[in-house]
Amino acid sequence: MSASDSVPRVGVWLIGARGSVATTVVAGCAAMTAGLHPPTGLLTETPPFTGSGLPALSSLVFGGHDTVDCPLPKRAEALAAGGVLPHGLPTAVSAELAAAEREIRPGGPLPGDTRSEEDLIAAFAADIRSFVRRCRLQRAVVVNVASTEPAPTGDALPPSSLYAAAALRAGCAYVNFTPSTGLHHPSLRRQAESLGLPFAGRDGKTGQTLLRSVLGPMFTQRALTVRAWSGTNLLGGGDGASLADPSAAAAKNAGKERVLADTLGTTPEGEVHIDDVPALGDWKTAWDHIAFDGFLGTRMVLQTTWQGCDSSLAAPLVLDLARLAARAHERGLSGPLSELGFYFKDPVGQGPAGLGEQYARLVGFAERLREASSGGSGFADGRDGPSVEPADGSGEQW
Ligand SMILES: NC(=O)c1ccc[n+]([C@@H]2O[C@H](COP(=O)([O-])OP(=O)(O)OC[C@H]3O[C@@H](n4cnc5c(N)ncnc54)[C@H](O)[C@@H]3O)[C@@H](O)[C@H]2O)c1
Repeated sequence: MSASDSVPRVGVWLIGARGSVATTVVAGCAAMTAGLHPPTGLLTETPPFTGSGLPALSSLVFGGHDTVDCPLPKRAEALAAGGVLPHGLPTAVSAELAAAEREIRPGGPLPGDTRSEEDLIAAFAADIRSFVRRCRLQRAVVVNVASTEPAPTGDALPPSSLYAAAALRAGCAYVNFTPSTGLHHPSLRRQAESLGLPFAGRDGKTGQTLLRSVLGPMFTQRALTVRAWSGTNLLGGGDGASLADPSAAAAKNAGKERVLADTLGTTPEGEVHIDDVPALGDWKTAWDHIAFDGFLGTRMVLQTTWQGCDSSLAAPLVLDLARLAARAHERGLSGPLSELGFYFKDPVGQGPAGLGEQYARLVGFAERLREASSGGSGFADGRDGPSVEPADGSGEQW
């Protein structure tokens, strides 16, 4: 057995493995592991997570599915040309990009695909199992970072749900970083609950909604009345193109609006719009206009402008989530990981909607994982392989 065989390795299977977020995850993990960049934006590298038993960044092995064939190193070059990745990084981590590229398998369904849902699930699950076996992984986490799809209308499983079903079949923890259906399909819910696997989602909270989850509680706590909250996003890249489809944008906007309803206790007037501006690439501008009433009904307005690089915001969250979900799986946790609500626009399970309280819950989760590492179960009721959801059926709401 070689030295590298003795360190347990954990797989991160990315659905949408050649996209901007996935490429930034793979390149970023390699850059941090090589000491080329500090772990800025990665919560799991901060003191509250020390000793929580999370897999080391250097132990992560990447693979995944995609429906396009542009190789990962080439995708990384394009991202560097657009300023998303630091200049020179694709060359510095070319070996790691090439290694991940070798573990990417064709996704689906492809145009004209005649395979049945069962055929697709079986093929995807076989790819994941083979990855785990071939790379001698202790376990793998499946993370959906594929293009946002419209909400399904009939009974057929949308692609995100086919992959989620495959993750369950392969015995993997599952994270849905997108607003797509994934495990939220009625035909998968029961399976997800009964198989004893942990899962988290939906839709990473990286920009406008992150800000909303801080500002919403501020208005509530200061007893200010929000009359209207309107927002506009301009972005390009693959995500901008996908969200140009109104039904895909509707899936995204539902999560943004949920944060307001949950933090304000009411849904204010106003809408969110997403405009595809290809020239902006991965760089997003998000404006929010908040009309509120102060003392004696005095009318006031807060406006915010967020200018972020979407994939750089998302990648550290994906790495955090993969590490936390892997550790939760190792501890035998199952069901919706509501403690990870900090990371999502539309979190599974019950939990607070304000960012401060969500952070406190996340840190509590890290603490319990640490206690679990040092011998005890770490969970208040002494469970060793706990479901983090109450067993009274209230978990139904995820
Ligand atoms: N800040 C952020 O970047 C952020 C925040 C929250 C959520 N997200 C979500 O993350 C996802 C990825 O964003 P991105 O910027 O990387 O998009 P992208 O367009 O660059 O990448 C998406 C990838 O998914 C692939 N894909 C599409 N259909 C597929 C299928 N059926 N099977 C396998 N692969 C498939 C595409 O080929 C592409 O490579 C989007 O759904 C986005 O909404 C991103």
